[in-house]
Parts: sequence; structure tokens; C-alpha cells
Amino acid sequence: MKSLPSCLAALLLLLPSVPLASAKHIMIPNTSFNSQADFDTDWNYLYPWGSDHNGAARMSKSQARLSGDGTLTLTARRVDGEKPASHGGQQIPIRYLSGAVHAKEHFNVSRGGGGYDFSGEFRATTARGTWPAFWLTAVQGWPPEVDMAEWKGSGKISFNTFNTSSQVRARDVAYPSPGAFHRILCEVRDHNGRDVSVKFSMDGNVIETQYGRGFVGQPMYL
Ligand SMILES: *[C@@H]1O[C@H](CO)[C@@H](O)[C@H](O)[C@H]1NC(C)=O
Ligand SMILES: *[C@@H]1O[C@H](CO)[C@@H](O)[C@H](O)[C@H]1NC(C)=O
Ligand SMILES: *[C@@H]1O[C@H](CO)[C@@H](O)[C@H](O)[C@H]1NC(C)=O
Repeated sequence: MKSLPSCLAALLLLLPSVPLASAKHIMIPNTSFNSQADFDTDWNYLYPWGSDHNGAARMSKSQARLSGDGTLTLTARRVDGEKPASHGGQQIPIRYLSGAVHAKEHFNVSRGGGGYDFSGEFRATTARGTWPAFWLTAVQGWPPEVDMAEWKGSGKISFNTFNTSSQVRARDVAYPSPGAFHRILCEVRDHNGRDVSVKFSMDGNVIETQYGRGFVGQPMYL
């Protein structure tokens, strides 16, 4: 395949943050993809650490486009002649350019009832070989990682929380009508002063709650 539309996201709106239930505060408004100026207030292109991660795609600003209707479109494109990525001591051939964006803000669940709601509307392909994702990952070390939604080209949508690389709660469910937008909501809360609870919903239906060990006080990238 020459080119694969990879993921469209609209209305990334977040989140209360603060210990007090009354102190709900929107950190990234649902207008943040309306214009370049709105985007630049809250987002940067690529991954926080650069253009490469652990797959066959290299992120490029050219593959992330504001469509002018409040939608961000991320598109993968087949390329030849890119230099390989290196990840975990491995050389990974790069076959695609694709798009990623990350929030300028870091998210740190504070002790004492703190938390965030991460919400957005996504239209994601489930074509084989693609891997669109809406996820949180550690700023320092690793984990925390919460895959608030990822589509691994299987036709399903996955919701995952990692305690370690081998201790992970991973839930795959059927992904209805990939051609339509679906609303993902991920409610991340201090559970017991140490661990966080993560309640995943799709289109208003709760999928399940997972727990991340020791995520309280650990800043995360979106
Ligand atoms: C966008 O956010 C505003 C303020 O929180 C809210 O009133 C509005 O309903 C939201 N729009 C959509 C389409 O979610
Ligand atoms: C996270 O927030 C807590 C306060 O809730 C603070 O004590 C801690 O230093 C923060 N961690 C980082 C790495 O910013
Ligand atoms: C991760 O750690 C939390 C807190 O200890 C625990 O509740 C959860 O079951 C663990 N996840 C897995 C997959 O073991």
C-alpha cells in the first residue's frame, strides 16, 4: 500500500486536574485543532523525544495536518531510503513517514484525589500494519504508560496499563465502524495515594477500570 490515512482526531478536550472536585479546569480546550495558533498554544509536533519510536514509521511534521474544521489528520506515507531507527539496541528499518503530536503540558496525578479526564473523538483505521494510538507515557523512566486507545491493525481497539513490560492489563474489544468518529474518555485518578485508577469509556460506555502501580506523582506525556 502506498499511503494510509492513519488517524483523525478531533476535539481533544481535557481535563480536571485538581484535588478538589469543584475545581474542574480545562487544560486543553476542544478548540485546540481549530487553527495553527490554537494548536501551537497546547501542542508540539512529533514525539517529545524526537521523530522515532519502536515501529517502522518516522514521525514528520509534514504528515500532521490541521484540516480547518477542528480536526487533526495524521497520515502515513510509504517511503524509501530513510536511515534506520535505533531502539533498545536494535536497528529498525523505516518504511513510512507518519504523524504524531504531543501536549506541551505534562500530566502528574497528585496525591489526595487528584486526576485528569482525557477525552477526544477519533476516526482510526484498523488496516493491517497501522498502529494509531492515543496514549500517556512516562516523562522520567518508564512506566507509567497508559494506552487510552490503540488500534493495532487487527480490527480491534486496545486499552492497556503497564506496571512493568511483562505485567500489563490489556483489554481488546471489537471496534465498531472504523469509518465513523468514536469518543474515547479516560478518567485517571489517584486510587490510594500511590496507584492510579484508569476508567476507559468508548462512546459513553465504560469498558473497564485498570490500575497503574505507583503512577501517582509521576509526570506523563500525552
Ligand atoms: C467544547 O467545550 C465546551 C466548553 O467545555 C463545551 O461547552 C462544548 O460542548 C464542547 N463542544 C463539543 C463539541 O464537545
Ligand atoms: C507531581 O506533583 C506533586 C504534587 O502533587 C509534586 O509533589 C511532585 O513533585 C510532582 N512531580 C513532578 C516530577 O513534577
Ligand atoms: C498493577 O498494579 C496495581 C497496583 O498494585 C494492581 O492493582 C494491578 O492489578 C496490577 N496490574 C497487573 C496487570 O497485574
